[in-house]
Amino acid sequence: MNSSSDKSDIRNWWAKSPMTYGSVHGRTTYQEQDGSETTMELGTPEFFDRVDERFYSWNRPLHTTEGYFAKIFPYERYHGKGVLEIGCGLGTMAMNWARHGAQVTAVDLNAVSVAQTRRRFELLGLPGRILEADSHRLPFQDGEFDYGYSWGVLHHSPDLSHSIREFFRVLKPGGEFGVMLYNRRSILYWYTIQFIEGFLHGESRFLGPLELASRYSDGAREEGNPHTWPVTRREMRDLFSPLCQKLRIKVLGTDLEGCFQFLMPGSRDYIPTIVKKSWARRWGWSLWICGKKR
Ligand SMILES: C[S@@+](CC[C@H](N)C(=O)[O-])C[C@H]1O[C@@H](n2cnc3c(N)ncnc32)[C@H](O)[C@@H]1O
Repeated sequence: MNSSSDKSDIRNWWAKSPMTYGSVHGRTTYQEQDGSETTMELGTPEFFDRVDERFYSWNRPLHTTEGYFAKIFPYERYHGKGVLEIGCGLGTMAMNWARHGAQVTAVDLNAVSVAQTRRRFELLGLPGRILEADSHRLPFQDGEFDYGYSWGVLHHSPDLSHSIREFFRVLKPGGEFGVMLYNRRSILYWYTIQFIEGFLHGESRFLGPLELASRYSDGAREEGNPHTWPVTRREMRDLFSPLCQKLRIKVLGTDLEGCFQFLMPGSRDYIPTIVKKSWARRWGWSLWICGKKR
């Protein structure tokens, strides 16, 4: 397969399975606390509220009284300034930046996510430029943005290093950035994906590491996700160091509560929070890479 057909497979898969945070990846059905299920209509205010509620609950440790994700996003410094998001999905983060007064530009590879994010901005009366674009080739001038971020996106691209260089091209010199990529040195990758699915369930007889990671992370446990390849801290240090200053790479530790429940049901009650937190900061799934462009 050449890289352009790779990219259209990726685009088509995400258009078919956008980031709804539904009970089944890509669907708009959500489980209620009493076990019943509610199906929402795409593009309605109730649907966006439900997406946000799920997204926020997964990332609870990152919120503060200053706003959602305010532990990682310096909203106040970029009031009135140009902020770019790559891979906006259904627009939760872009909405928060716009609400904090940034001039938001958000791109996504798939048309469904772009249409949904535009719809969200329209419903809320927020200003913003939402475009269909590939991280590999951004339709912007050099140095156009003051701040740039991307959350859970670029590991879906076979051209990660090219996309990172393209991202830096459109940032101003000295501009800050934040990129979240999945962590290959995580419990989810080694234990859940490679050990349980690959080894115990025998999937590694048929699927290589990339296929396993694609299928059992964002792959909805079904065939079809063409590319999800988590990265390591060292690989990212090598990739980002030449492009930026004040580089920081850390594991966010946001996802392990769910992982513990899966690995050791009931562990929430008997493993002390302090232990879970320290494991989460070491072996969690979300690697946060931030700094300033040279
Ligand atoms: C896991 S979702 C994350 C969406 C959103 N950031 C969130 O956290 O909800 C991945 C998104 O990346 C988009 N994507 C994948 N490859 C891309 C690329 N090369 N350029 C731009 N967007 C891409 C997909 O269309 C999808 O919407």
